[in-house]
Formats: sequence, C-alpha cells, structure tokens
Amino acid sequence: MTSTLISGISELWTLDPALDDPARPGGTTEEQVQREAALVIEDGRIAWTGPATRAPAADDTVDLDGRAVLPGWVDSHSHLVFDGDRAAEFEARMAGQSYSAGGISVTTDATRSASEEHLRELVRGRIAEAVAGGTTTLETKTGYGLTVEHELQAALLLSSLIADGELDEATYLGAHLVPREFTDRAEEYVDLVSGEMLAAVAPHVRWIDVFCEQGAFDPEQSERVLRAGAAASLGLRVHGNQLGRSGGVELAAELGAASVDHVNHLGASDIEALAATAARPTAPGGAPGRLAVDAGPTVATVLPACDLSTRAPLAPARELLDAGAAIAIASNCNPGTSFTSAMSFCVTTAVLQMHLSLAEAVRAATRGGALALRRTDVGHLGIGARADLHVLDAPAAVHLAYRPGMPLTHQVWRSGRRRA
Ligand code: NIG
Repeated sequence: MTSTLISGISELWTLDPALDDPARPGGTTEEQVQREAALVIEDGRIAWTGPATRAPAADDTVDLDGRAVLPGWVDSHSHLVFDGDRAAEFEARMAGQSYSAGGISVTTDATRSASEEHLRELVRGRIAEAVAGGTTTLETKTGYGLTVEHELQAALLLSSLIADGELDEATYLGAHLVPREFTDRAEEYVDLVSGEMLAAVAPHVRWIDVFCEQGAFDPEQSERVLRAGAAASLGLRVHGNQLGRSGGVELAAELGAASVDHVNHLGASDIEALAATAARPTAPGGAPGRLAVDAGPTVATVLPACDLSTRAPLAPARELLDAGAAIAIASNCNPGTSFTSAMSFCVTTAVLQMHLSLAEAVRAATRGGALALRRTDVGHLGIGARADLHVLDAPAAVHLAYRPGMPLTHQVWRSGRRRA
C-alpha cells in the first residue's frame, strides 16, 4: 500500500463529522477548517490530517504551495442521459417565455433515437466536465426514455458507469413526464411506471424520483409511484415545488424521502415540515459508507443554476437554514433548465444571491449532498473518508465567491487519484 502526503495546504476544509458541534447542527466549527495543514492518503482514503509541521513521512509527496483544499463537490441531482439540444427553448425563455414541463418531450424524442454507444459517450463526456469543475460524487437519473426499453437502457448505462467507478448513484425517473403516446391516459402510464417499468429498472438503481408538478404528475400519482418504489426497496427523491406549490414538499416529508429538490415555491408550512424532518435520526445502511435510504431528514436541495436559467424565484435557502432544515446544493445539469454541471458556480450563486455564508454554501455542496444521498464516505475529509479533494487555485475558499466566475479549480482527486 503506497501513501501520499499532500502538503502546502493553506486552508484544509475537512468538515469532519466527528468534529460537528451537537449544539449547532449544520454549523461548521473552527476545528473543521485547518490552517497551514497537510494530509495523508492511503489506499484511496484519508489516513491523516493535521498541522503541516507534524506531517508524517509518506512514499510520495505533493506540495500545493499555499492552496486551499475542499472535499470534492457532491452533486446529488443531475440528468445526464440525454441527446439533443434545447438552446432555442432557452433563448425563447430569455425573451420572456416561461418554462413548462412539456419541453422534456423534445429531449425524449432525441434520446430514444440515439444509439447506446452514442449515449454512453455523451454521458461520459458530461461526467468529465463535472469532474473538471471539482465534482467527485455524482448522482444522475434516467427519465428521458419513458418506455420500459429506454428506461432500462439508461439504468443499465448508469449501473455500468458506477461499476467502472465513473459515477456514484443512479436514480429511476420514469415519472418525469407522461409521454405523448399516453396523452389522456396518464393513469395507465403511472401503472406502467410503478409496475412493469419499475420491475425492469429497480435492480439497477438505488433511488426512485418523481416530477410532482403541474404538467407532470399530481400528488396522488406521485405518491403511487413513490410507494411502489419504496416497496421495491428504492430510496425516495422528489422534484417538488419548482413551478408552484405542487404538494411535492409535503409528500416528500410525509413519505420520508431523502431529498426534495427545487423547492422554489414554499409556504411557511412547507418550511416547517422540512425543518421537522431534521430531527429524524439516520440509520446504518448495511454497506460501508452508506446510510439507510428510508431514515434521516428530508434534505431540501436547492438548484441555483436552474433558478437562474429559468428565471425562477430563487429557492429560499436562507429561510430553510434559519428554520433548521437540512439543505444541499446541486447542479441539476440537464438540457432543459440547467445545462451546466458547474458546482462552483452554484456555490458562488448561493453566497451572492441566496445569502448563504461561504461556509454554509460549501457545506451544502459537500456534506449536504452526501446526506441527500445517504452517504457517509464522501462530502468530508475526515479519517477514513474517500480521498476526494478539490484543490483551489486560491489561498482560501472564500475566493469562490470573491472572484466569481474565475477558473479556480486547480486539481481534482477522486479515491486518492488525480482526475483533473
Ligand atoms: O429538474 N424539472 C424536471 N426535470 C428537470 C428538467 C427537465 C427538462 O426540462 O428537460 C429539472 O429541472
């Protein structure tokens, strides 16, 4: 087993869960950000962190020359399996049109006619883009196939990328839109999604998701899909309250979903319902680095790039945090509402526009994403964590917000190996 010493770290954000302050849940303590630090990687995991002056010897040494190191971003919401382009829809939106769920069918047509090999190359290219921006844990979804054959094809592609160590989490989103061939037969499509399609896809994914929104699936239909997924032992995720108060947030909190994403339109009762879930204890998931998918808080996942690209009201991340809810920041990379995987941009936007502090935003994009995925092995650099490092070309992480838009990703390490 070889060891690598990384030295010359001006600011090391371990965000080590062992150093959480129980009196300030969700807060970052001084001990979780070390100055003039070093770390040692062994066997792809963090073996030691501490003051540079006390660093042990190792087989190899890398000197970062005074740069800041964060845990790699944990992007808990993306839709990377698609072909086609919706730039014209984006331009129309910038000219005043509003976003509607119907645009999904444009991507569905293009995705259904793409070859398996072409889709694989597209997804791999998009993962490489995400990694180049500092993302080291990535969830992605099916949801542009919407037939048993095409949803299964997408799920198999995702599970093979997970097996190859390129991707981390796969989600089944057959309930993304009622496809054209089921027009006026939505209930029949819900039967398919929660019956034959689920049976085909479930063995290859860990999560099920539903777009609970006007123009997609109503709360009753969404509940039917989610309950079927839970019965198939999948963890629950919900797209909720993106375009209005869809009922998605209430449903997610009530069913114990791991995450409800978008959350642009929230009333006081939605915020209270999410905050109330923060007290739900997590439970071990039976596999190393994983928590049970059906225990723990319903994380409110905000998607700042999507909010900007759809000119939606920004999700009330500040209010959610102040109320005590658990939050995550994700990219929602997809061709319709957020064609970017740039998590640093999302973090910057959360600071500049959503009024989070830098520490709150970094934590939401690392520990928050990990909680939304029920993972304990990523999102922090405590001892034993996967050695996923995001090295900034800056002496302090605050430069992410202080120098918005600058290319500050200097190096990216995943499982102890340089990826970018
Ligand atoms: O998360 N909201 C639903 N799904 C995607 C958008 C899909 C699309 O428009 O292609 C999202 O924003």
